[in-house]
Amino acid sequence: MFRNAPQIPTVLFIVLTICVTSFSMMAAQAEKVVIAHRGASGYLPEHTLAAYSMAHALGADYLEPDLAVSKDGVLICLHDLTLNATTNVKDIFPDRARKNDKWYAVDFTLAELKQLRVVERMSHRFPRETQLFQIPTLEEMILLTKGLNASTGRNAGIYPELKDPAFYKKAGFDPSKMLLDMLKKYEYIGPEANLYIQCFIPATLLRLRNEQQVTLPFIQLISDSIVHDGLVTDEGLDKIAAYAQGIGPDKKRIEDDPTLVERAHARGLLVHPYTFRKEQAPQKYESIEEELHTFLWDYNIDGGFTDQPDIMKHAIEALK
Ligand code: G3P
Ligand code: CA
Repeated sequence: MFRNAPQIPTVLFIVLTICVTSFSMMAAQAEKVVIAHRGASGYLPEHTLAAYSMAHALGADYLEPDLAVSKDGVLICLHDLTLNATTNVKDIFPDRARKNDKWYAVDFTLAELKQLRVVERMSHRFPRETQLFQIPTLEEMILLTKGLNASTGRNAGIYPELKDPAFYKKAGFDPSKMLLDMLKKYEYIGPEANLYIQCFIPATLLRLRNEQQVTLPFIQLISDSIVHDGLVTDEGLDKIAAYAQGIGPDKKRIEDDPTLVERAHARGLLVHPYTFRKEQAPQKYESIEEELHTFLWDYNIDGGFTDQPDIMKHAIEALK
C-alpha cells in the first residue's frame, strides 16, 4: 500500500526546499522598509515634529527630513526652497518676498522661521486653518527620533535629503558639511549607521564618497525627468553601485521598466521608490493596497517612501 509513497530522501528534499524558500521569503520580507515621506504627511502637516512622531508610532523604519538652510546657517526640515506652500509666511512677514513673489527660507533667520506656523500643503488633508506647528530644525528632528527610539525601544532611522545643493552653495552654505557635522554630533557614523543620505544630484554624493571619504549609506534619487534617463541604464547603475547603497527612483520608472529592480539588485543596490500616496494610486490599481502589493511582491522593491506609513507597514506584514 505504500508502493507509491515518496522515498524518504525525496520527502526530505521537498521539506528542506519548502523551509529554505520560506526562510528566504521571510528574510526578504524582513528587509523591506517603510520610509515615512516628510513624516506621516498623509495625516499631519509635512516636516513637523508631530508628523515625525506619528510616523514613528505607526511603525515607520525611517523618518524622512528634506533639508533647507536658514539665513543664519541652521539646517531646517523643509521640502521647498520657499515658504509659500507650507507656512503662513505671507501673514507674518508680508514685505519679505523676493521680486518673484516668493518667500525663500534662506532669507530668514531661525528665530524668524520659528515665528511661522506650518500649514498643510494639500487641501483635502489636515485642516489648513489649523496652524499648530513650527518648522523644526534637523537637530530637533534627530533629538525627537532618538528620544522616541529610547522611550519605545523601536529603533527608527533617519533618511535626510540634501536638497538644492547648488542653490545653497551660491548663498554661501555647504549643506553637506552641515549635515555631516550634525550626524557626527549624534553618532551616526560609518556604514552601519541607521540612516540613508539621499540626493538627486550624483555629483554631491560622489564628492562626499570620493573626496571626503564619507562611509555613511547613500541613496541615489532618480527622477522621472529625461535628465536622469542615463542613471537607469546598465552603465548608469554600474556607476551608482560604485558610490551608493541603493536607488530611490520615481515609482513611474519601475512601472515603465520593472527590470530596473532586478538590474539594481544584481549590482547590490537597494530599491526604495517614491512616493506611495493613498489618494494618488495610479488608475490601473483599485487601491494603494493593490499598488503596494504589486511593487512589494511582484516588482520586489526593498521598501519605499509613503505618506501613509501604516498602510505600507500593513502591506508588508500581511504577507509575512
Ligand atoms: O526623497 C524622495 C522623495 O521624497 C523625492 O521627492 O520631492 O518629495 O522630496 P520629494
Ligand atoms: Ca524627499
